[in-house]
Amino acid sequence: MAKPQKRYVCQACGSVASRWQGQCADCSEWNTLVEEAGAVVTPFAAKHNLQGGGRSVVLTSLDAEVTLPERMVTGIAEFDRALGGGFVEGSATLIGGDPGIGKSTLLLQAAARMALAGHSVAYVSGEEAADQVRLRARRLGLGNAPVQLAAASSTRDILTTLSTGAPPALLVIDSIQTMHSDLIEGAPGTVSQVRASAQELIRFAKERGTALVLVGHVTKDGTIAGPRVLEHMVDTVLAFEGERSHQYRILRAIKNRFGGTDEIGVFSMQSEGLAEVANPSALFLTHREEGVTGATVFPALEGTRPVLVEIQALVVRLASGATPRRAVVGWDSGRLAMILAVLEARCGLSFSTAEVYLNIAGGYRVQDPAADLAVAAALVSALSERPVPSESVAFGEVALSGELRPVAHGPLRLKEAGKLGFERALVPIAVAKDGKGEGAMHLTGFRTLGQFVDHMLGRG
Ligand code: TYD
Ligand code: MG
Repeated sequence: MAKPQKRYVCQACGSVASRWQGQCADCSEWNTLVEEAGAVVTPFAAKHNLQGGGRSVVLTSLDAEVTLPERMVTGIAEFDRALGGGFVEGSATLIGGDPGIGKSTLLLQAAARMALAGHSVAYVSGEEAADQVRLRARRLGLGNAPVQLAAASSTRDILTTLSTGAPPALLVIDSIQTMHSDLIEGAPGTVSQVRASAQELIRFAKERGTALVLVGHVTKDGTIAGPRVLEHMVDTVLAFEGERSHQYRILRAIKNRFGGTDEIGVFSMQSEGLAEVANPSALFLTHREEGVTGATVFPALEGTRPVLVEIQALVVRLASGATPRRAVVGWDSGRLAMILAVLEARCGLSFSTAEVYLNIAGGYRVQDPAADLAVAAALVSALSERPVPSESVAFGEVALSGELRPVAHGPLRLKEAGKLGFERALVPIAVAKDGKGEGAMHLTGFRTLGQFVDHMLGRG
């Protein structure tokens, strides 16, 4: 057997160096280089002709016949929605999320539902003993589902087992970081192990038409642990998000070769597992009181789905010359700095000697640029101690010039706000013109942020 060459793999980005360095040359992370053995030609690799002497591939034309892959619905509508209509045969899906967020629970529920619907389903846990999984299934009321359960972590053992007989329609691997491939050296969870194990499992899935689901751990900055290549290797990447202290969870498609990436599934964690939330707006809108300053309701859009959330701001004047704090939960801090700058430079409001706190209620994370105007409204309201008119929502993008830009799907946002009992909307002028005749909503349009601030402060 050839002597394996020493190499050092960055555990953050997966890049390879020939010498150890304190800092990764590619991603600049410190102390992430770990020695890993290089690829060795194993009997398996030699037999499968993995090196040299390739076979010729068939080249075909783009307009050749296509057979659309079959989809299997999980029966959990919110899950199917995030997947773009269910699992695709022979595809690989990666689900990432913080520990304890509910990945295993969600997948066990989906596996059980699919098994009860007549699909053959295998659930392999590398983290929990079979009894633990069984107990959880029982607690979820799914103890009688015909799921094939295994506690294993060797990919060779798993694939050997599944290769005898008909392959399962769905194979869940919980988690890919606990899997171990003997084609390569190294402890489970290292970049090369994760990559090699995933490769073997994905090859099996493609060859046998099994829908493969890999659970992936995330690092503290929220990316899926191990190499980014894992995200390239799979067809679909889903993120399971939420605050552990809050009930709700969002399943978001980040990449999907078989569907859109703008759909989300919304769940709430109950004592009997994850329940679907068909109307998320009611979940995120906390109980609202009249006349509170520093709060606005923002009709966010998740894909094609409107979700109303409350944006809260707190402005605290500082007496001393200390550097004021800016803290943001649930929104981009760079974007907050930008809105503050525009309010200062274009609207004559001063936040420079005040601490600013911004929070999205319910632990929700807003990514929609249309939140700018709602954030500005909350900030102006907090600064001036005047409440935003009740029964109103605000949305629109703020440009650096102070102009208000229209945003996508204005009518959809207005419709949702109307459904939840809101009567007024503060919007960019273009939205106000477009949105005429949108039910009973009263629209007030503004051309610039300055005009909007004047309106809020009752100036001219
Ligand atoms: P789990 O699915 O194990 O999370 P992950 O696989 O992402 O690490 O979820 C564990 C958490 O969910 C745990 O803190 C308890 C909670 N939970 C419930 O609240 N209700 C339930 O019915 C179940 C099964 C778990
Ligand atoms: Mg788990």
